Amino acid sequence: METTSNHPLLQPLHVGDLILSSRVIMSPMTRGRAKNGKNIPTAQAAVYYAQRASAGLIITEGTWINPESVGFANVPGIFSEEQKEGWKIITKAVHEQGGLIFLQLGHFGALAHPDYLNGELPIGPSNIKVNEIVFSPTGPKPSVIPREMSKGDITRTLNDFKLAAQNAKDAGFDGLEIHAQGKSLISQFLSDAINKRNDEYGGSIEGKSRFLFEVLDQVISVWGSKRVSVRLNPFLSYSGASGEPEDMLPTYEYVIRKLNDYDIAFLHVIDRAEQGTSEQELQNRMIYQKVSTWYSGHIVANGGLTLEKANELISEGLVSMASFGTKYIANPDLIYRFENNIELNEGDPSTYYMGDDAGYIDYPSISPVLN
Ligand SMILES: Cc1cc2nc3c(=O)[nH]c(=O)nc-3n(C[C@H](O)[C@H](O)[C@H](O)COP(=O)(O)O)c2cc1C
Repeated sequence: METTSNHPLLQPLHVGDLILSSRVIMSPMTRGRAKNGKNIPTAQAAVYYAQRASAGLIITEGTWINPESVGFANVPGIFSEEQKEGWKIITKAVHEQGGLIFLQLGHFGALAHPDYLNGELPIGPSNIKVNEIVFSPTGPKPSVIPREMSKGDITRTLNDFKLAAQNAKDAGFDGLEIHAQGKSLISQFLSDAINKRNDEYGGSIEGKSRFLFEVLDQVISVWGSKRVSVRLNPFLSYSGASGEPEDMLPTYEYVIRKLNDYDIAFLHVIDRAEQGTSEQELQNRMIYQKVSTWYSGHIVANGGLTLEKANELISEGLVSMASFGTKYIANPDLIYRFENNIELNEGDPSTYYMGDDAGYIDYPSISPVLN
């Protein structure tokens, strides 16, 4: 989409071999609508994503790489033929509207649940429980103590990442994002509190980050590096045995510096997404100042951003792009609203993670392109 706006956020950008029409990214968001018992993305999802195709780039909801990775109800996968066929309809719908779409690959590791696994334990870096509530098929349940992954489990999981990456390619995606934030298997490996392994996948920071880089190698072997992105939250913290949150910044600094060795599309960084978004809290956020000294490629900022804040971060040279989550749920025509300074719709949190078409594909759009 051509834009006459002067907003830095709305200028086009070369990302690898792609040209994004703006620096506005739609954040990956689980919407829990794949209610067919087979984790197949639906026709409604094609409508939902096509409605948002004016974004510079869409990143899909976190999508399971194999049956063992499932840790949330009604979320699509990319490991079966039927799932792949479902995604083909979605990528086609987005491309027909002139959009670009990356698939986010996810695995919940220790936060999968026996109810999704025929009663089997989920797998994790160590047999240490991640204290969270899991959204099982029959409602919220406490997480369980996982089974520690053997070397064979690690090899098998890496191979499943590769197969999922190939399926995504076959389904017509423009690229991939590796979900290494939130309490995913990859961030469980990075954690000092959760990863107590004493083999080469644990111990030092280098050991704890080995799994992430091996996943990256697998997906790059299918896609090449320029179509792959990694999503991290440097403030993510699991509670240790003492209940005290861990300080993971040194680990994330190591990981982010090492990502310079891979010529990936972009690094997607969440800045304390779970915290408040008052003016003061937004001002307190400093992570991009650190990350921009650690990493020389494209950085996508995320977390409570506004048009103004995103413009500022880009003008200051701290990031190249910005992603919007909740604003995209409620505003399919976010770009048009930003361009024309039009008030944003408010989203309804009760339909964020579950429901049907309401709160999913019925948010009003005033963009002439989408009407
Ligand atoms: C309903 C919902 C589902 C989400 N699902 C995912 C997900 O699947 N993968 C992911 O990396 N982040 C997920 N997130 C986090 C968002 O991508 C984003 O980081 C967060 O909403 C903060 O951005 P915002 O302030 O612009 O909404 C989700 C957030 C919401 C609200």
